[in-house]
Amino acid sequence: MRKWVLAAAMMAAMPVAAQAADAEAGKTVFNKCKACHQVGKNAVGPDLKGVIGRKAGTHEGYTYSEAMKNSGLTWDEATLKTYLADPKKLVPGTKMVFMGIKDPADEDNLIAYLETLK
Ligand code: HEC
Repeated sequence: MRKWVLAAAMMAAMPVAAQAADAEAGKTVFNKCKACHQVGKNAVGPDLKGVIGRKAGTHEGYTYSEAMKNSGLTWDEATLKTYLADPKKLVPGTKMVFMGIKDPADEDNLIAYLETLK
C-alpha cells in the first residue's frame, strides 16, 4: 500500500513532458484573431472555418491581397506556424496586420483548435 502512495506522489511531481497540443486552450488564443476573423463567414479577414487544407487566398467571397493570392501556399500545420509567427515574413505584402504569436505552445494549441473548425 505504501508503495502505491509513493508511486502516485512521484508521478504527480513529475514535470509533464511533451504536452499534447490543447484545442481548448487554443480557443482562448483564438481570441487574438477574433478582431478580424470569424468562423463561418468572412469579416475583416477571411472565414477561418475549414482553413486547414485550404489553398491560401481562395476562400469564396473574400477579397485577398495579390500577395496572398499568389503565395502558392496551402494551410497546414507547418505553413500556419510560419505564417502566424510573422505573417509579413512568409507572405510579404499580406494585408493581415498581426504582430505574430511568439509562444510556440500557444501556436500549437491554436492550430489544434483550427483543426477542429471543419
Ligand atoms: C488585424 C486583423 C487580423 C488579425 C488580428 C488576424 N488576421 Fe488573419 N487575416 C487578416 C486579413 C486582412 C487577411 C487576408 C490577408 C491577405 O489577403 O493578404 C488574413 C488572412 C489570414 C489567413 C489566410 C486565410 C486564407 O484563406 O488564405 C489565415 C490562415 C489567417 N489570417 C489566420 C489568422 C489567425 C489564426 C489569427 C490569430 C492568431 C489572425 N489571422 C489574426 C486579418 C487579421
